[in-house]
Amino acid sequence: MTLPEIRQAGPEALCEVHAINRVCFAESWSLRALEDALCAGAELRLCVGEKVWAYLLSQDVLDETHVLQIAVLPEARGHGMASALMLSLMEAKRTQRRILLEVRSSNEAARRLYQKLGFARIGVRPRYYGARPGQAAEDAEVLALDMERDALP
Ligand SMILES: CC(C)(COP(=O)(O)OP(=O)(O)OC[C@H]1O[C@@H](n2cnc3c(N)ncnc32)[C@H](O)[C@@H]1OP(=O)(O)O)[C@@H](O)C(=O)NCCC(=O)NCCS
Repeated sequence: MTLPEIRQAGPEALCEVHAINRVCFAESWSLRALEDALCAGAELRLCVGEKVWAYLLSQDVLDETHVLQIAVLPEARGHGMASALMLSLMEAKRTQRRILLEVRSSNEAARRLYQKLGFARIGVRPRYYGARPGQAAEDAEVLALDMERDALP
């Protein structure tokens, strides 16, 4: 695996992003939904080595930045790619008031990632993730990183 770099990208990267999305999420987004997000002003960051290993989709809403999705291909996990993507976002959004995201209560890997980066729980959205066959609905934890108070030096 060559040393990956973080770079911003546009619609030309969406086919690869969509493929990662389908592998990483039980409820994946359609290609159209990803295109619509970019048209609505979302930003796409990639972690790229010999191929695209991971991505982060975010959107600024006034003085807040929302993390819409972050995903790393299973074979590339545990190499710091999600951390690198998040740190790149945090650096770029230094002047925003805060970064917000939602995470499944059961998603231990993601919750630890965000905790390590300094995110704090500010709320819960009960049954935010709808029930699927054989699985009950699940709460989302709402996490925030206050950029004025918590951001890295
Ligand atoms: C969650 C996810 C993005 C982490 O990506 P990653 O590149 O493997 O994460 P990193 O290597 O940067 O790990 C950073 C920290 O996250 C935590 N972490 C990552 N994977 C973990 C795991 N399997 N178990 C426990 N903690 C984990 C650890 O605290 C880790 O720090 P450490 O290496 O010092 O222990 C990845 O597992 C993924 O794509 N999951 C599927 C999609 C998803 O759940 N996205 C988040 C939705 S909110």
